[in-house]
Amino acid sequence: MTTPKRYLVTSALPYANGLKHIGHLAGAYIPADIYVRYLKAQLRDVVFVCGSDEHGTAIPIQAMKEGTTAQAIIDKYHPIIEQNFKDLGIHFDIYHRTSSPLHHETAQEFFTVLNDNGDLEIKTSEQYFDEATQTFLADRFIKGTCPNCSYDNAFGDQCEKCGKSLSPDELINPVSTLSGNVPVKKETSHWYLPLNKHEDFLREWVLKEHKNDWRVNVVGQVKSWVDGGLQPRAVTRDLDWGIQVPVKNAVGKVLYVWFDAPIGYISATKQWALNHGKDWKPYWYENDTQLVHFIGKDNIVFHAIIFPVMLKLHGNILPANVPSNEFMNLEGDKMSTSRGWSIEMDDYINDWIKKENGGESMADVLRYYLTAIAPETKDSEFTWKGFQDACNSELVSVFGNYINRTFVLMHKLCNGKVPPFHNDLIDDLDKQLIQDIGNTKLKVETLLEGYKFREAQFEVIDLARKANQYMQKKEPWILAKHLPESPSNQHLIDNALHLCLQLTANLAILINPFLPFTAKKMLHMMKVVEKLLEWQNAGRVDLLKVGYSLREPQLLFRKIEDEEIAHQLEKLTIKKVQVEENKSVEVEQESKNVLKPEIVFDDFGKIDLRIGTITAAEKVEKADKLLKLEVDLGFEKRTIVSGIAMHFKPEELVGQQVTVVCNLAPRKMRGIESNGMILLAEDKSGKLHFLHTNGMIDAGSTIS
Ligand code: MF3
Ligand code: ZN
Repeated sequence: MTTPKRYLVTSALPYANGLKHIGHLAGAYIPADIYVRYLKAQLRDVVFVCGSDEHGTAIPIQAMKEGTTAQAIIDKYHPIIEQNFKDLGIHFDIYHRTSSPLHHETAQEFFTVLNDNGDLEIKTSEQYFDEATQTFLADRFIKGTCPNCSYDNAFGDQCEKCGKSLSPDELINPVSTLSGNVPVKKETSHWYLPLNKHEDFLREWVLKEHKNDWRVNVVGQVKSWVDGGLQPRAVTRDLDWGIQVPVKNAVGKVLYVWFDAPIGYISATKQWALNHGKDWKPYWYENDTQLVHFIGKDNIVFHAIIFPVMLKLHGNILPANVPSNEFMNLEGDKMSTSRGWSIEMDDYINDWIKKENGGESMADVLRYYLTAIAPETKDSEFTWKGFQDACNSELVSVFGNYINRTFVLMHKLCNGKVPPFHNDLIDDLDKQLIQDIGNTKLKVETLLEGYKFREAQFEVIDLARKANQYMQKKEPWILAKHLPESPSNQHLIDNALHLCLQLTANLAILINPFLPFTAKKMLHMMKVVEKLLEWQNAGRVDLLKVGYSLREPQLLFRKIEDEEIAHQLEKLTIKKVQVEENKSVEVEQESKNVLKPEIVFDDFGKIDLRIGTITAAEKVEKADKLLKLEVDLGFEKRTIVSGIAMHFKPEELVGQQVTVVCNLAPRKMRGIESNGMILLAEDKSGKLHFLHTNGMIDAGSTIS
């Protein structure tokens, strides 16, 4: 295969509806960043784009939760997520937004081309409609039981428990997430992308052409969709948040978020080109461009089926690969922000990076561990203990220790300068090490170009392990002890440290795509410029000039203590409990938002409501919650038993005016006959309040 002329690398655009967790990071962002850093070190022409996905129902739903507007939500989360990526060393060439006018135009133009070419179909069908809010219930505006796994909070577009993508019609017992009502069906028209017409193309392109170079999980998902029979997919929605359908009279209709979002890769490229005075077109139209989409598992169908069909119809190039991981679990359970079982990037950054001087190295520790356990072929698991072990026994003990020893010895035994290499003294160990360096370079290249990030990183650490063994065998510190009687030892010391230093330079180049902050620190120690990191330099053993003086070593990584891990584990448990508590309040709240079924006027007229004054109140024996009240209704006195003992002391009640339901059938409670009911208001926290009358109304006044 010829080397592509240019690369366009994309990471899935995260919804700007909340913080993102480290499972997201491991899937679509870190591998993409490694790949791009490697390509850039190769001096290839590459653009790396990402940005916020700001449409769809996820955004207004979050706005409802936070009691604000959709616009306020995206304006809040877009900059936070952008900064989180920066703090973790994910370096996009542009981090764009799908709310930008340029994106709206680009998506509309794309739709218009497909529509004008007759590639879309208009169909009328019955869809769920919420009469209370007068809205059609697309995607996440509708919830119900998943037909696949019986989870009872599945959304109309996807079940978040089992991951199955759904349509609202498949939900069992659907309810509106807006009002809680059971929806009705109503006719509406939409534009559809007839995927069924592209089955042959998909079979040919994915299942034959990319059968062997795409990951098994990706090809597998495409196969099961195609074999299951492709259906036309609606690409528009009845919503007021999104990009207007660019057709006259299509009022209240917007592009489906999954139609507009991947076009965001194109608009981001356009904005990048504008910013840098470049031409964006070759990246999307020329066959010698390599387009690669890094995504999470639940995005596979959109990137391997739907978007490619759109690209083909629009006349663009197709992706060369769509690398997607499996899931990364967390401490024995599925990672999920909504269930409170997750580690948010923002939390990691605050706890590990911002808290200490030189904390960037902790960004690299996270990058390292997430890559080491990347679920490239099967699900994997993040554990804090595993994180600690990876840091302490690989980064600290192998990589960091090697670099540190090399620098300390070079200062002690070679005056802080790169010693010469005496060719006449070269031995088999030296030759082997030089060979190892060259081999590692080649292996890492092949692995990275094949999207095998986990193994590639392993090879780099393995080279450091070999380097440690080399030094252990050469024992320059022992040679130094015998210098007085064997002065020729100095040449042996020189050779060992010369090679160890050249190897350090090589390690900086090789580790750079994975751990960019570490590579930077190493450059500083070696007093060399960033140009050293160019990939073509790897494998060379003349990178550092003889006689060049180097800085004192800096510790590259620090040890992680048991207490820090215990603290994180505790934090995780506390967060889960908090989220569960908040949820039960939310559910209660939601059920209160739901109106009771409609009644006619006559139903209401049957209730006799009057003002009464409490004249006496006492506790009911052996009943924590009950109070026995005497209520004066003006024309008569009543005994009423009320379940408010947890809220008021008896003496607080005497003299209070209350609303009384007077014609409620008598009821016995704890042996006392209760003749009526008093009405109170309950606030969000569950506290009861009187409906104040200022005591100015005569007892017995009617309410209507
Ligand atoms: N926002 C989507 C998600 O988080 C991903 C969108 S990727 C793009 O699942 F292709 F649409 F941009
Ligand atoms: Zn399910």
